[in-house]
Amino acid sequence: MLHDPNRVYVFDTTLRDGEQVPGCQLTTPEKIEIAHELEALGVDIIEAGFPVSSPGDFQSVVEISKAVKNPIVCALTRANKGDIDVAVESLQYAKHPRIHTGIGASDMHIKNKFNSTREEILVRAVEAVKYAKKSVEDIEFYAEDAGRADIHFLAQMIEAVIAAGATVVNIPDTNGYCLPDQYGEKIKFLKENVKNIDKAIISVHCHNDLGLATANSIAGLQNGARQIEGTINGIGERAGNTSIEEVVMILKTHQVLGLHTHINTKNFFELSRMVSAQMRMPVQPNKAIVGSNAFAHSSGIHQDGFLKNRENYEIIRPEDVGFPNASIVLTARSGRHALKFHLERLGYNLSKEELAAAYHRFLVLADNKLDINDEDLLILVGDKKFA
Ligand code: KIV
Ligand code: ZN
Repeated sequence: MLHDPNRVYVFDTTLRDGEQVPGCQLTTPEKIEIAHELEALGVDIIEAGFPVSSPGDFQSVVEISKAVKNPIVCALTRANKGDIDVAVESLQYAKHPRIHTGIGASDMHIKNKFNSTREEILVRAVEAVKYAKKSVEDIEFYAEDAGRADIHFLAQMIEAVIAAGATVVNIPDTNGYCLPDQYGEKIKFLKENVKNIDKAIISVHCHNDLGLATANSIAGLQNGARQIEGTINGIGERAGNTSIEEVVMILKTHQVLGLHTHINTKNFFELSRMVSAQMRMPVQPNKAIVGSNAFAHSSGIHQDGFLKNRENYEIIRPEDVGFPNASIVLTARSGRHALKFHLERLGYNLSKEELAAAYHRFLVLADNKLDINDEDLLILVGDKKFA
């Protein structure tokens, strides 16, 4: 089968990087439920856990491996034989298993986390990939803190692990440090300078410490990466990971980028709410794509423009991401077009004069009440049942 050069593979780590967040721990049945929904969403890879970290995580990887059939099921390890052995065992039922192993690539991590040297780290990286490759064909290598790593050493490391058998090379901006052009340049450098880079897919894994995770992921894709790692709702360590829904909708909206995924975007909203409920992690109302205000129009100028033509203020159709529908929210900033729209929805076609009087009463009410609902409107127009 010919490989489509413009296809971006989607690697979901909600159940691993996302689940590491304090308070977000899930039971195995909850993880299986989310895994089924991730499969329905069409993700290519599900990172199901870090099996050596706990018996519960091990069991979750086992059960998710049994539960899904299309996505690759991936297990995380550090670069040592013990972790890899446990991960291999946890993946025994996976139809498409992948081991995700790796080690620190920045001098900061090499010195202050591993108390080691670049030479020693390189040996450990290569040995881990070779060892994992004996049991599983599909090996992803992560160069932790690649965002702050020396680019020449990073290139040397990536070349060595591909030669050892890595099929995917993950370049994480572990601390969310890079600017989009810096991160894009890193990917470009690897693409142009690692001799065997065409034998592996480059993956982007960005954290959101400076609010740049999505922008950095897109910069990576524009410079040759073809796998994006992220989570639903952007949950993850500290300020979180890249939001999958954001990257996928950027690619869909900006077709000029020429990249596409196999994601069923209509499933985003429901899955977002399932993850939020199970992980006890509310979605901020102004969150792009899935926040409750993402398709709510509240100021008079916007409402008027939206009612004339939705595309004046809507670059994504809410139905494309499974959002119930766009809403015209009534506040003291709303104009009479918005009021007319809601009254007509409730079956009231007022004359110009009646509307002007109703709008006057509406403004008085809206200045004193944050949330104007249908009942308030019915009282406003003197509906007997509500008077
Ligand atoms: O952020 C990171 O570097 C990671 C790796 C373990 C892939 O999550
Ligand atoms: Zn991470």
